Amino acid sequence: MIGIHKSKLDTPALIIDKDKLVNNIRTMQNKARAHGKNVRPHAKTHKCSKLAKLQLNEGAIGICATKVSEALVLAKSNITGILITSPVVSQLKLEKLAQLYKLQADTMIVSDNKANLDQLNILGKSINQPINVIIDIDSGIGRTGCTFDQALELGLYAHKLDFLFLKGIQCYAGHFQHINTFKARENASKLLLNQAGNIKQALMDQIGVNDLIQTGSGTGTYSIDLTLESVNEIQPGSYTVMDKEYFDIEQNQAHFLPVMTLLSTVISDNHSTHVTVDAGLKALYKDPTKPKVIAPHNALYYDWDYFGDEHGKLTGKNLPKNGEVVEMIVPHCDPTINLFDQFYIIENDIVVDIWPIDLRGKSQ
Ligand SMILES: Cc1ncc(COP(=O)(O)O)c(C=O)c1O
Repeated sequence: MIGIHKSKLDTPALIIDKDKLVNNIRTMQNKARAHGKNVRPHAKTHKCSKLAKLQLNEGAIGICATKVSEALVLAKSNITGILITSPVVSQLKLEKLAQLYKLQADTMIVSDNKANLDQLNILGKSINQPINVIIDIDSGIGRTGCTFDQALELGLYAHKLDFLFLKGIQCYAGHFQHINTFKARENASKLLLNQAGNIKQALMDQIGVNDLIQTGSGTGTYSIDLTLESVNEIQPGSYTVMDKEYFDIEQNQAHFLPVMTLLSTVISDNHSTHVTVDAGLKALYKDPTKPKVIAPHNALYYDWDYFGDEHGKLTGKNLPKNGEVVEMIVPHCDPTINLFDQFYIIENDIVVDIWPIDLRGKSQ
């Protein structure tokens, strides 16, 4: 495959433009650096340890993962500074966490309740290694995290346990990332993260340290959050490759380039109203937002319609013919990437490398 033009790839296929990718990664790093903040990008988006290493080479201080299984793949690839952003409470996962600590002792994990802090402390004792803990605060989604009222108490509790090392707090506001107007996003994020910052300060005052982490933030609010004094690191994910849903919100399109596209081929052109392409639900995660067709031209419209798992419907002017390749920006990058085994890396439209999506399917 190396050396061929992207249009000659077997489809459906995900391609990444390397120069644009590096550009997006550098843009985020430069913006964070200008504010004196760190970036620990989230690998939940790209699920690719090669891409994570590129982020580290460009200045990221570590990599976030949602699941222990994802983190294990990162750790086996010698990636350090891993933060697991979702709690681990069940025995099998705690055992995996122990394996992870044997590989990368600087790993951090979030926790949102006392019983779980006790579990992590027991784990730390059993492996004779401190578990680095970040207290997860519920940003208002109700997904994970303790209340603001509980956070101080939990932090102090973690600090007192012998085999835990309190590293800081996390407050990730997923429900703010796609607020359409910048001003509304800014108001919401500032209010919330300053409140979290007060908890961090109170913890530092009571423990007598000045270096606790406040992490959180995503592609929608990063530029706002970087301006807040208490936030010292951000964990954006989608900025790496971008997607239609992020291009649709105010200001984001100005910062990051569309790096990843999906190639799909017309396989049936018997109708005057539409043609059928070879990417359906199994290649293109279905969201309310539709993909944006960019080639062969942008007056074409993709819909899953009722064409099923393996097929999609293309309407519009000058419909392409059988065998022609269509290129699209996907609506939602993370779950679409999770449907593929590899990225084709291109430079000037020529395939120069193939990167395994090696965290794909690691949902445990
Ligand atoms: C905890 C956490 N951190 C960071 C991110 C990355 O956010 P984004 O893809 O919006 O940059 C996510 C995304 O869902 C997340 O759940």
